[in-house]
Amino acid sequence: MIRAAQPQDLAAIMHIERRAHAFPWSEQVMQQFLQRPGSAWVLEQQGELVGHAVIRVIAGEGELLTIAIHPEQQGQGLGLQLLQAILQQFAQQGAEQCFLEVRASNHSAIQLYEKLGFACAGVRKDYYPCAQGREDAWIYCLDLSA
Ligand SMILES: CC(C)(COP(=O)(O)OP(=O)(O)OC[C@H]1O[C@@H](n2cnc3c(N)ncnc32)[C@H](O)[C@@H]1OP(=O)(O)O)[C@@H](O)C(=O)NCCC(=O)NCCS
Repeated sequence: MIRAAQPQDLAAIMHIERRAHAFPWSEQVMQQFLQRPGSAWVLEQQGELVGHAVIRVIAGEGELLTIAIHPEQQGQGLGLQLLQAILQQFAQQGAEQCFLEVRASNHSAIQLYEKLGFACAGVRKDYYPCAQGREDAWIYCLDLSA
């Protein structure tokens, strides 16, 4: 089941966030998005949170700010399921385009985005910190009005 995140989901979301990302969001930042209706979404299985996504829609432009599936649950189609639901949310919230930034080295996420029709729209050089210095962000875009 995919549902809007509630403030009381914070601890479970942060557990997944810290397990899934080498550079996780802080609890404070996540908490701010949990307080914004329509921004944070969770994927729940048998009463347990297994994934989350955070979005923002401004003036018809959607942004996928983060998405994660618990590492023990990855590779089972859950990320695809969550992202498909998120794309519906973007449409419901009036987004005509959706943008996201992804680390150039994040092949699994890039494969997922391209599978859903996202296309690379640009590069931000040295955008992200990484284990050995910095790495590029690739900007991906999907036209939701097509
Ligand atoms: C990216 C992420 C959300 C994908 O979730 P997932 O549940 O593992 O992905 P799914 O099982 O739904 O796979 C869907 C598609 O994603 C791609 N994919 C997923 N894992 C992959 C891997 N290890 N290698 C290559 N492609 C992969 C494939 O295109 C796959 O489709 P396919 O199975 O038909 O080949 C998940 O790996 C994750 O949480 N990663 C850590 C956090 C992160 O990097 N978030 C994105 C940047 S903000």
